[in-house]
Amino acid sequence: MIDPPQFVDEAVARLRADIDGRAIIAASGGIDSTVAAVLTERALGDRARAVFVDTGLLRAQEVERVSELFRTAGLRFEVRDASDRFFAALRDVADPEQKRRAVGATFIRLFEEEAASFGTDRLVQGTIAPDWIESGGSLRDTIKTHHNVGGIPADSRLRLVEPLRDLYKDEVRAVARSLGVPSPDRQPFPGPGLAVRVAGPVTPDRVRRVRVANAIVEEEVERAVAEHTLSPPWQYFAVLLPGRTVGVLGDNRVHGEAISVRVVESVDAMTATAVELPRAVARRIAERITRSLHGEVVRVLYDITDKPPATIEWE
Ligand code: XMP
Repeated sequence: MIDPPQFVDEAVARLRADIDGRAIIAASGGIDSTVAAVLTERALGDRARAVFVDTGLLRAQEVERVSELFRTAGLRFEVRDASDRFFAALRDVADPEQKRRAVGATFIRLFEEEAASFGTDRLVQGTIAPDWIESGGSLRDTIKTHHNVGGIPADSRLRLVEPLRDLYKDEVRAVARSLGVPSPDRQPFPGPGLAVRVAGPVTPDRVRRVRVANAIVEEEVERAVAEHTLSPPWQYFAVLLPGRTVGVLGDNRVHGEAISVRVVESVDAMTATAVELPRAVARRIAERITRSLHGEVVRVLYDITDKPPATIEWE
């Protein structure tokens, strides 16, 4: 484990030495990029600008929550609405790796535009060790393409800066605590957003369904934690499954979709254990999802697989 205050001093010094002009920061509101943003702001002051992209693939209320987080963390930031571009890039894409690449490429083009308008070619990212290890950065096989790793096309002018690339999540959280970044233990959310939580084609309607279901999973898990019937899990979310399934609506059979609920415990996301939900919580989640998405989602499943052999995300 690193020494957080010492890491902060060294990272700030390195950023000052590396970047003599301006830089923009790809800030998603997640703990990794928020820590990277606060370090960069410390190093560069008003020569740094965090850019938060509304991809249209975010969770319910995420733009508001992230904006509030950045204000509390004292960051200079800008919100860029680009949902149309992401949905256009994802049209007719169902393959998980292609989705990640489509989202990654769209991010890069947007950041190129943002960087040019801010007068820089430096892009700070919150990449951490598992991101590049699992993207095949070492001798291991490629497990997945993280949208934020290796996605810079050869013709791009952007030069990457990754101040956290040797840290693991628990270390980033320790650094966050030492920097006073709010809610250092909040759950991770993948960069490609709800695109990788909608198995199969990504349409605005399917993203809306998984967003509604995900908000219910978050509310019910957080309620159970507040009522002490569940210890705070590492990650808890909903996934919209591919294909159709039969349900009953009044006197009729309907073909709807299915949601899978995933709740896991982990330390560094390299391995994870499926959490056993209290029965009452699981029932309430299923009832609320099928009621809120009446006729659209007719079945709710619970994912009991550990990592390995599964991953935490579905795609
Ligand atoms: P997996 O699914 O590989 O996920 O077991 C491990 C952790 O990483 C998160 N994750 C991502 N984070 N960009 C990110 O910033 C990504 O492309 C990405 N994919 C997965 C995932 O939520 C889990 O916490």
